[in-house]
Amino acid sequence: MKPIILAGILIAALLSACGQPAPRVEASGSSDNTTAEGDITRGEFIFVSGNGSNAPPCTTCHTVGTSAMSLQLGPSLTHIATDGADRISGVDAHDYIRQSILQPQDHVVSGYRVGMYADYEADLSEQELTDLIAFLMTLD
Ligand code: HEC
Repeated sequence: MKPIILAGILIAALLSACGQPAPRVEASGSSDNTTAEGDITRGEFIFVSGNGSNAPPCTTCHTVGTSAMSLQLGPSLTHIATDGADRISGVDAHDYIRQSILQPQDHVVSGYRVGMYADYEADLSEQELTDLIAFLMTLD
C-alpha cells in the first residue's frame, strides 16, 4: 500500500506545482540581455514545472534519472548531454537539444513516434530556452 500512497502524494504535488503560474521571463527585444550559458536552476524548474504558459512541462513525457512522474511518451533524457552528440552526425549535443525542442518533428528518435509538443518555439522565450538547454547539458 505504501508505494501507492507515496505515488499519490507525488502526483498531487506535481499537479499543485503545475497550477501555480511561474514568473514569466520575457525575451528581450535585443539579444543583449540573454546570457550565453543560461541559468541551470531556472532551466530545471521550467523542465519540471513549465514556464507558466500553456506549454506542458517536459516531465509530462520525459523522465530524468529515476523520476517516475511521467507518461514516458518520450525517451529518458538522463544522458542527453552525451547521447545528443550521437544523434545527427555533425550536430553537437547543445545544437541537437535546441533543435529537438524547437523542431521536434525534424528528427525522430529511433523507436519513438512524432508526439512531442510542437509549439515550444512560440511558448518559450529565448532566455527560457537557453536556461532549459543549460540544464539539459548537465545531464551527461
Ligand atoms: C507530449 C509529450 C512531450 C513533451 C511535453 C515533451 N517531449 Fe520531448 N519528446 C517527446 C517524444 C515522443 C520524443 C521522441 C520523438 C522525437 O524525437 O520527436 C521526444 C524527444 C525529445 C528529445 C530528443 C531525445 C533523444 O534521446 O534524442 C529531446 C532533447 C526532448 N524531447 C526534449 C524535450 C524538452 C526539453 C521538453 C520540454 C520543453 C520536451 N521534450 C517536452 C515527447 C515530448
